Amino acid sequence: MTIDSQDRTRDRPDYRDSGLRFPADFLLGAATASYQIEGAATADGRGPSIWDTFSATPGKITNGDTGDVAVDHYNRLEEDLDLMAELGLEAYRFSIAWPRIQPTGSGPVNEAGLAFYGRLIDGLNARGIRPIATLYHWDLPQPLEDAGGWTNRDTAYRFAEYARIVAEALGDRVPVWTTLNEPWCSAFLGYGSGAHAPGRTDGAAALTAVHHLNLAHGLAVQVLREVVPQADVSITLNFHVVRDADGLPADGADNEAVRRIDALANRSFTHPLLIGGYPEDLIEDTAAATDWSFVLPGDAEIIRQPLDFLGVNYYSTMRVRMWDGTTPRARADGHKDVGGSAWPGSDNVEFPAQEGPYTAMGWNIAPDGLEELLLSLSSQHPDLPLMITENGASFDDEVVGDRVHDAERVDYLRRHFTAAHRAMQQGVDLRGYLVWSLLDNFEWGYGYSKRFGIVHVDYDTQKRTLKDSARWVAQLIEEHAIPE
Ligand code: FCB
Repeated sequence: MTIDSQDRTRDRPDYRDSGLRFPADFLLGAATASYQIEGAATADGRGPSIWDTFSATPGKITNGDTGDVAVDHYNRLEEDLDLMAELGLEAYRFSIAWPRIQPTGSGPVNEAGLAFYGRLIDGLNARGIRPIATLYHWDLPQPLEDAGGWTNRDTAYRFAEYARIVAEALGDRVPVWTTLNEPWCSAFLGYGSGAHAPGRTDGAAALTAVHHLNLAHGLAVQVLREVVPQADVSITLNFHVVRDADGLPADGADNEAVRRIDALANRSFTHPLLIGGYPEDLIEDTAAATDWSFVLPGDAEIIRQPLDFLGVNYYSTMRVRMWDGTTPRARADGHKDVGGSAWPGSDNVEFPAQEGPYTAMGWNIAPDGLEELLLSLSSQHPDLPLMITENGASFDDEVVGDRVHDAERVDYLRRHFTAAHRAMQQGVDLRGYLVWSLLDNFEWGYGYSKRFGIVHVDYDTQKRTLKDSARWVAQLIEEHAIPE
């Protein structure tokens, strides 16, 4: 996001507050995603997804890890539900694996898959935990990829069909729906850089995927409004808080590198979803890759659907500047570098490393970026409530006895909760905050080497151990205030 120039400042307060209270109806909870935790990859009729294929491909995932077993959540559902209740979660954001519902991505429904999510949802409701269901967190059924995946317009229609099946079966018990999680990653890491499944490296394909993901969202919102008119409907985006070469907040209007990356990373979604159509500068910047002829008449109207809130995932900021073309191009864009480009049409931009401190992902810790982002979104879209659907950090945790003293994660969370609170004090309509993640899990291209959980998982025994951060989050929820 670009932010107003008057916000430029080097005086960064440290955001280490305590005692700040959140309103009683502010939803506090945690998030996960199907492929990252469920395991049971072939159980009860589940079909293969692009992440099964990608993980099984040598060299794609650190240590050759796969989600075959993950943290075995599929078989440990009751135990994990009890854990959520023990922490006092008010909301739990999970995703539904499309290949459990339709093993080939279209056609017959697999009742056993629906039944699993039915048990999860009933278990949440029985414990007074609000279910927030994401329809797509990246596990596209492999047969759909074989037919072109998100570069094929038909995938958007298949998604709407899948949304209808799920909403008809589970809709009466789920108050909040999210269509897509981070379509930027699906499109640009999946089809551009190749860091994510399906691992394609084609800029034109990535931009085509952007549009078909946006279309899929619009079609699914229409279905959800029809089938579950009482439910809240949203989408979750991963905003790139783009800073200039000095690492300062920048106004995209007068900074070419910021403008270009903001267009690809943020406005390729916010513009069609919230304003209508694609930004002209995005179309110009990418003209060498595509003429955007995959956008058909009427698509803009389908994509721009009223939303009940916007889901915001935030982890860190990003620094950009125009590349001089001679020195080695800095590539610290926060995403795994596997050779391909996630920035079609803007390979003349480079990504210098930022100032620390860093998490174990190498991501810089910048709570001020979250405050800026929330203020910026709320000033641009004043009538659209926001919810932080993911925020958290990976650190190299150690189990000591039966404890995990993850002081750095507690500090990270404290600073980001403070940032969120500050934004709310300045008028941002923020409805909730979900920590990523409930459990340590399969961190995509990094496999099990990066731990994001507030609950530690021993991958040999599947034993769950509360980290200090889980206790801290539990206290935060109980008091509805940032603990001492
Ligand atoms: C987000 C993803 C989530 C998790 C976190 C660390 O991009 O939505 O699944 O991997 O990053």
